[in-house]
Amino acid sequence: MAKSLYVFDNNDEMSEALNFWVAGLAQVAIAKSDRFTIAISGGSLPSILGAKLSTNATIDWSKWHVFFADERCVPLCDPESNYDLARKHLFSKVSIPASNIYSIRNALVNDPEAAAKDYAQQLKSVFFDASEGDDDCTKQVPVFDLILLGVGPDGHTCSLFPSHKLLDERSKIVASLEDSPKPPPSRITLTYTVLNAASAIAFIATGDSKSDVIHRIIDKGENLPSGRVKPSNGELYWFFDKAAVKMLSTKTDHFTL
Ligand code: 6PG
Repeated sequence: MAKSLYVFDNNDEMSEALNFWVAGLAQVAIAKSDRFTIAISGGSLPSILGAKLSTNATIDWSKWHVFFADERCVPLCDPESNYDLARKHLFSKVSIPASNIYSIRNALVNDPEAAAKDYAQQLKSVFFDASEGDDDCTKQVPVFDLILLGVGPDGHTCSLFPSHKLLDERSKIVASLEDSPKPPPSRITLTYTVLNAASAIAFIATGDSKSDVIHRIIDKGENLPSGRVKPSNGELYWFFDKAAVKMLSTKTDHFTL
């Protein structure tokens, strides 16, 4: 697994770099497979990602298939919804076909387990032939072209939290939880089965509040949820700002491990 770290002065620079990088990955994926499959998280990511990407006129949005790395079990129009955030910062500004944006179903937000099952089926419908359908996720693991993740100050990523039982979930591709320490408590999340099968994963983190956890993950190799993301046949990227890396022992703007 190749790992690369990039450090930016501010959000603007990071948005610009993400714009070129994501657009480039999309172009390569579309040339190869006639589509680009991406999963995105909530938090600060949609605004940093959307700021410049949404103005990129070279992108063939019709080939994009967008999933959520995790989602809160709230109606899609709720301000807590990751879908709503992404709609505001990206979907409303570009022409991704609505049928290529895969969201939690409004009708299932009060039943997280059913919502997770349904989301797993949505994933399978895009990545596999219906004829291949069965529930054995070891046979059917979607391989995303790119998954974009955030990092919480406690080391969580997606809705995978420290010491939570979902860290050991291997039999599902999408799981539910009703005890998220970060509100709201009910959520669905991709599992490590999907994360670690991706072709590329990038963590995006900014600000002082992330500096300690980034030091714990990268310098100390602590076994926190974000540190467990290790794509077995893919590449891992870290896009951080200066504040987020201020405790990191390696003082550089860019390194590849
Ligand atoms: C969510 C997230 C979550 C997020 C991190 C980082 O829905 O809560 O997907 O995993 O990415 O908490 O969030 P910030 O970038 O806002 O710190």
